[in-house]
Amino acid sequence: MRRREFLLSTMAMTAAGLAPRSTRAADGWVEILIDEPRGEIAPELHGHFTEHLGGVVYDGIWVGEDSKVPNLNGIRKALVEHMRQLKAPVVRWAGGCFADSYNWRDGVGPRAKRPVRSNFWTVDPELWKAPDGPQKYEPNTFGTAEFMRFCQLCGAKPYLAANLRSLTPNDFDDWVDYCNSPAGRTTLAQIRASDGSQEPFNVLYWGIGNESWGCGGDFRPEEYAIEFRRFISWVPDYGLKLRYVASGPGAAMDDAQIAWTRGFLQELVAKSAETLNRVYGLSMHYYCWTSGKGDSLDFTVDDWYQLLLQADVMESLITKHWLAMGEFDKDHKVKLVVDEWGAWHRGPAIDPRYLFSYVPTMRDALVTGITLDTFHRHPEKLAMCNDAQLVNCIHTLFLAREERFAPTPVFHVFDMYKAHQSGQALRFMCDAPSISFGTGKRFWGLAGSASLHGKTVVVTVVNPHASEPRAAEINLRGGSARSAKATVLAAPDIHAHNDFDHPQAVEPKAAPADVSGARFSWTFPPASVTKLEIELA
Ligand code: AHR
Repeated sequence: MRRREFLLSTMAMTAAGLAPRSTRAADGWVEILIDEPRGEIAPELHGHFTEHLGGVVYDGIWVGEDSKVPNLNGIRKALVEHMRQLKAPVVRWAGGCFADSYNWRDGVGPRAKRPVRSNFWTVDPELWKAPDGPQKYEPNTFGTAEFMRFCQLCGAKPYLAANLRSLTPNDFDDWVDYCNSPAGRTTLAQIRASDGSQEPFNVLYWGIGNESWGCGGDFRPEEYAIEFRRFISWVPDYGLKLRYVASGPGAAMDDAQIAWTRGFLQELVAKSAETLNRVYGLSMHYYCWTSGKGDSLDFTVDDWYQLLLQADVMESLITKHWLAMGEFDKDHKVKLVVDEWGAWHRGPAIDPRYLFSYVPTMRDALVTGITLDTFHRHPEKLAMCNDAQLVNCIHTLFLAREERFAPTPVFHVFDMYKAHQSGQALRFMCDAPSISFGTGKRFWGLAGSASLHGKTVVVTVVNPHASEPRAAEINLRGGSARSAKATVLAAPDIHAHNDFDHPQAVEPKAAPADVSGARFSWTFPPASVTKLEIELA
C-alpha cells in the first residue's frame, strides 16, 4: 500500500475506533515513518531555567567557595556533574518575574561590595513568613560572572533575561557590553576581567522582559511591542547576531493569550515587516496545575490523569499560537520559545524558604515525557524550551539542601531523552484504546516521538495508564531493526519518588530487547516512560 493510502486507511480505522488488521493481536500500534524527517530536534529544546527564587540559586546552584558542600568556584559540584551528564544545552537566568526587578549591575564587581536587595519574591506571603535568608534578601553573590561560570562548567549556553519593566534600553546595551565587548576595550570589559573573565562571554540569547503582560510591567501587547522594538534597535552587538526573544503569551489556553500573540505581532510589523528579521523567538509559558489538594506526593488516580491531561494541552497551544503567528509572519521567521513549562503543585515545600519547591514523583516524570515528546513532534516551530525550574523548584530536576542532593524522576526522563538531541525528528503516529477516568473524561492510551541519527532510530513512548501495561505493535516504515536497546522508567507505585534518604528509589532500568525486522511487538509497563534505541539493518 502506498504511504498516502496507508495513512488514509489508518486514519479512517482510527476514527472508527479500529486498529489496523496487522495489529489485532496487540491493542496498541506505533508507526514510525523513517523516510519522513521533519527537521532537526535542536538540543535547545531540552533547555533549563534558573531564577533567583526560593532555593534555586542559593543553595541549589551557589553554595560558596568556603562551603563544606563539594563545589567548583562556589558552584555545587554534584549539580554540574549531573548537568554534564544531561548534555544540558542552554540555561535561562535570572528570571522569571525576578528579571524585571533585577539590576545586573548589583551582581558584578567584588562580591563583598555588592548591595543587598529585597528579592522580588518577597511579594509572596509564603516567602515573607519564612525565615530570613538569601531567598528574601538578595546578596547578589551570584551575578553574571558566576552564572557564566556555571554555564561553562555545565557545557551549556547562557540565555539572559533583560529587565524591561524597571531598567532602560541603555542599561540593556551596557549589559551586552559587559558580556560581549572585546577584552580590555571598554570600562565594562575591564570590570568583567576583574570579575574573572578577560575574554567576552559572547552571549547570544537575550530575552527582552518576562511575562510583560503581568509581573513584567502589566503592558498591553501593543505597548510592549513598542518597548521591545526600542530595546532591540541599534544595540551594539560586537559582531554577533544576537537572538532576541520577545515576551509572549502566558499559561492559559484562552482568547486573551492569543490576543497577546496577535496584538504583539501586529504592532511589531506595523512600522516595517523587516523587524521580523531581528526577532529570534516569541516566548510562551505554560504550567499544568495539580487538581485536588495540590499535593505533589499525595494524590489520587484521578489527579494523576488530570495532570497528564493538562500537560497534553501543550500540543494545541503550540499549534494555535503558531497559526496566529503566521497571520503576521507568513514565512515563520520567528519561532516559538517555550521558556517556562512544568507541573506546578501547591506543596509541600522541601524547605519553607525554598518557595515552590516540590518533590516530583512518577507523575511528574510522565509530564516530562509527554512534554518533550510534544516538542519533538514540532521541531520546525520551536527554537528553544526551558523546564521551570532546574533545582529546588516547580518542576525540578534536582533536590539540594546543604550537603544533600538527589536527582528526581524528571531528571531521569531528561537523561533518557537526550538521545533525541540533534536527530532528525521522524513522523510518529500511534493509537491505543483511550483510558476513561473521573466523570466521563478520557485520555489517550499511548504517545511518543522518534528521531533518526544515522542508522539509529530513537523512540520514546509514554504509557499513561496508572495500572495496566499496554501491548503494542511497532512498525518501522522504510527500515528494519537489526537490534535494539531498551531503557524503562517505571515504578510499582505512581507516587514513587526520590528524596534525600532515597536518592535512587526511582531510576531507569535497561530492559531486554530481542527485536528484529520491520515490525515487532513491545509491551509498555503501566505508568511508564520507555526509550528504544533501534539499530537499523
Ligand atoms: O517560574 C516561576 C514564575 O512563573 C516565573 O518567575 C514567572 O515567569 C512565572 O509566572
